[in-house]
Amino acid sequence: MKRSKVTIVGAGNVGATAAHWIASKELADVVLVDLVDGVPQGKALDLSQSGPVEGFDLRITGSSDYAATENSEIVVITAGLPRKPGMSRDDLLKTNAKIVTEVTEKVVKYSPNCILIVVSNPLDAMTYVAKKVSGFPRNRVIGMAGVLDTARFKTFVAEAAGVSVEDVHGFVYGGHGDTMVPMTRYCSIAGVPLERFLSKEKIQEIVTRTQNGGIEIVNFLKTGSAFYAPASSVVAMVESIVRDKKRILPCAVEMNGEYGVKNLFVGVLAKLGTNGMEKVIEVDLNETERAALMKSADAVQGLVNVIEGKA
Ligand code: LAC
Repeated sequence: MKRSKVTIVGAGNVGATAAHWIASKELADVVLVDLVDGVPQGKALDLSQSGPVEGFDLRITGSSDYAATENSEIVVITAGLPRKPGMSRDDLLKTNAKIVTEVTEKVVKYSPNCILIVVSNPLDAMTYVAKKVSGFPRNRVIGMAGVLDTARFKTFVAEAAGVSVEDVHGFVYGGHGDTMVPMTRYCSIAGVPLERFLSKEKIQEIVTRTQNGGIEIVNFLKTGSAFYAPASSVVAMVESIVRDKKRILPCAVEMNGEYGVKNLFVGVLAKLGTNGMEKVIEVDLNETERAALMKSADAVQGLVNVIEGKA
């Protein structure tokens, strides 16, 4: 079987941790890229030397030269500044738009057929930037946020209900910001509706905590943002693509009329396989859910307008 090649741009906490999980699942050869010369090389060498101990057999290399990324099947873009306490994801907008633009240009030059997974914040707007700069079709530009937001939601539900996280199902829609929409009506524990386990008040508390899930961690860490769960969420997407698993995962996808939204990235359920984002799954939404999704889409549109100089 042909080995897959995955490039991770940004050898910080998210990038390095994603490389770690890709290696431990033996999913693909990994190229870590970072502007800070020495860091990607050092982390890649160190990680590759855990291969004999962990029993994975992959090529893991680091470089500050994009030539090393040539012909990657997937490129994960984590580059950008993380949030600091008191800073919203949106504060990062202009700085990270510039970084994502530069990175995308270099990535596309060496891997014109790759699938881009964007992790930089503000997530939905940065995915839009990567799509625009790359000129790729929508199946090859996907944002990682829904898997993370859903993982947080599931963690809180499992804890509150006193059940295994493995039996919690559900998904979070919308932008990766405090307008995100945990779809509680579609959430279940082993197929049994959530409200059979938790009160309305408790569920609302979990929704709010999920919406603030990123900042809760920023406030603890003070000098950085979350990375374990973001990295494992990236790797779930990478795995579904390289193994053509066709998992249905919540991701930021460019809407093409689904849910009445067009030309905007928002988090929805999508099928991920060899061709990247292979299908948007549409679910029935009631009035409240639809209104919440539209509010979230409007928030993303607001950021895009700022990038486009329209606001
Ligand atoms: C978070 C940041 C990374 O949600 O957006 O943790």
